[in-house]
Amino acid sequence: MPEQDDIKAVMDEMPYGLYIIGSRMGDEVNGMMADWVMQVSFVPRLVAVSFENDAQTLANVRDSSVFTVNLLPQESMELAARFAQPYHGDKVKGRPEAEAAKLHRKLEGIPYTQSARGGPILEDAMAWLECEADQYLPAGDHTLVIARVLDGRVLKPAEPLTSTYTGWTYSG
Ligand SMILES: Cc1cc2nc3c(=O)[nH]c(=O)nc-3n(C[C@H](O)[C@H](O)[C@H](O)COP(=O)(O)O)c2cc1C
Repeated sequence: MPEQDDIKAVMDEMPYGLYIIGSRMGDEVNGMMADWVMQVSFVPRLVAVSFENDAQTLANVRDSSVFTVNLLPQESMELAARFAQPYHGDKVKGRPEAEAAKLHRKLEGIPYTQSARGGPILEDAMAWLECEADQYLPAGDHTLVIARVLDGRVLKPAEPLTSTYTGWTYSG
């Protein structure tokens, strides 16, 4: 039998980009940190994002079909960190009742604009994509969303955040 710790150690060595996925349900916008994001086709141009089954962002994408992928420069690590907080406080097990009852509107007080279809674009982003969900594939404790890339811009030259730079891991 392989040692599970050995396998986790390998998976933690895999480098990832670090992205803020913008989404909306009606007028309510949200942002979440994700590193399981990749291009999966040239023609048509498709990206795939793997979402936790209980992420509010996945519910938003199912509702509106739209999401944005924001790339942040390395100087924005502190801003990025706030997007690891779940929208529903009770998603983190063991929190005291008052904390668990909280809804985290992570974009409140953060400057952003919106793509043509309403996906949040952070003012601090160095680049962004607007995507439209096309397929939802169950993938264990996640759902893989394959999406068409509809629009995008590079806003400024910068070094993007990566798991190698932040040391934050979401793997194993
Ligand atoms: C470094 C890092 C990378 C993450 N990558 C993902 C990811 O690829 N997919 C995902 O569903 N959650 C990922 N998460 C967890 C989400 O950011 C987290 O569950 C978030 O709270 C969900 O937000 P929401 O409930 O507002 O949608 C990651 C967390 C960290 C710290």
